[in-house]
Amino acid sequence: MYSRKGAGPSKDSSYRTDTEVHDGYTEQQQQQYTKYLKKLKNDFDETWCKRAKLNMDFTELERIKTLGTGAFGRVVLLKHSKSYKLYAMKVLEKEKIVKMKQVEHTLYEKRILEAIRFPFTVCMEFSFKDNSCIYFIMPFVPGGEMFTHLRRMGKFEEPLAKFYASQVILALEYLHFCNLVYRDLKPENILIDKSGYLKITDFGFCKILQGRTWTLCGTPEYLAPELILSKGYGFSVDWWSFGVLLFEMNAGYPPFYANDPMKTYEKIVSGKYRCPSSFNSDLRDLIRNILQVDISHRYGVMKNGVMDYKNHKWFKGIEWESILNCRTQPPFVPKYRGPGDTTNFDRYEEETITPASHCLFEAEFYDF
Ligand SMILES: Nc1ncnc2c1ncn2[C@@H]1O[C@H](COP(=O)(O)OP(=O)(O)OP(=O)(O)O)[C@@H](O)[C@H]1O
Ligand SMILES: [Mg+2]
Repeated sequence: MYSRKGAGPSKDSSYRTDTEVHDGYTEQQQQQYTKYLKKLKNDFDETWCKRAKLNMDFTELERIKTLGTGAFGRVVLLKHSKSYKLYAMKVLEKEKIVKMKQVEHTLYEKRILEAIRFPFTVCMEFSFKDNSCIYFIMPFVPGGEMFTHLRRMGKFEEPLAKFYASQVILALEYLHFCNLVYRDLKPENILIDKSGYLKITDFGFCKILQGRTWTLCGTPEYLAPELILSKGYGFSVDWWSFGVLLFEMNAGYPPFYANDPMKTYEKIVSGKYRCPSSFNSDLRDLIRNILQVDISHRYGVMKNGVMDYKNHKWFKGIEWESILNCRTQPPFVPKYRGPGDTTNFDRYEEETITPASHCLFEAEFYDF
């Protein structure tokens, strides 16, 4: 979570309108879209309350290899022995979660993954626990992390950055509409599926937000000033991180950076950064409106909400509904040589955890 390393839409999410396609996004389009978001929120609330049981015979899952590692465990690629379907399984060690006081966050992560359904977010297919670990099973997103492609390409060409930025905006709009604050937006947590569209993963810091919260969490370069200053914060922190992401996608490096995290924080709260000369005036204007230390001036949380993005000059030419329905041709499609190809992921040393002979932390994880 802290470290920075050196499928098309689901059926439920298709969205139809009878409004004409043109540049920008009209109030009427947004009103219609809000009705659709309300339906998605109802679906989220229903699943959240129902605590759906997702069953599966886990002996039929074959472990292939590690796709990523993190603070509490790892994510491994699995193949179902009968259907040959591929899954990504996040394995979290109960002992590490308890030691790092993340039990509540992990419980949230599970319930949120079970309940969210949006074209640009991952979701949960099944989950289970044994004596030592808890397991979240998601569809495998084979294109790898945005991080990997960004480092390989150096920076993204503007059309690609726009294509990705528009999906992240729609995903944040959906999450916030469901009262979810995400809190860990960064290229490492954004995956690219085989079609070239995005899936945001890692809901380890996501939670339902009523009012304000104070928890210090996220990744240094992506933290919002109000979070660093322990002011009590809300959805504004995700829009700040989005501004950092937008900068990093277009520049190849983040706007606030120092070797020492404390120095990074100083730069963030000062709100001072320099755009590379390659940034055009529309992009500079957009970033300036997001990286506002004063949240009352930050795009995303002002009175026009997401409309400030959807109608910004930098997004001219983006057809928001076409993006939502994955009908825009992606400017980049990752190489994928067929089922089980993991060349878009780094290599990791394999490690299997032998479950303890008795159930560890049974009470803490009773609700899983
Ligand atoms: N559904 C998926 N398909 C393919 N790869 C995935 C998937 N989910 C996660 N990964 C890979 O595993 C990595 C780690 O996953 P994730 O970000 O959820 O864990 P983490 O950063 O360890 O989490 P935490 O912040 O809870 O410690 C991701 O960055 C990504 O490379
Ligand atoms: Mg992560």
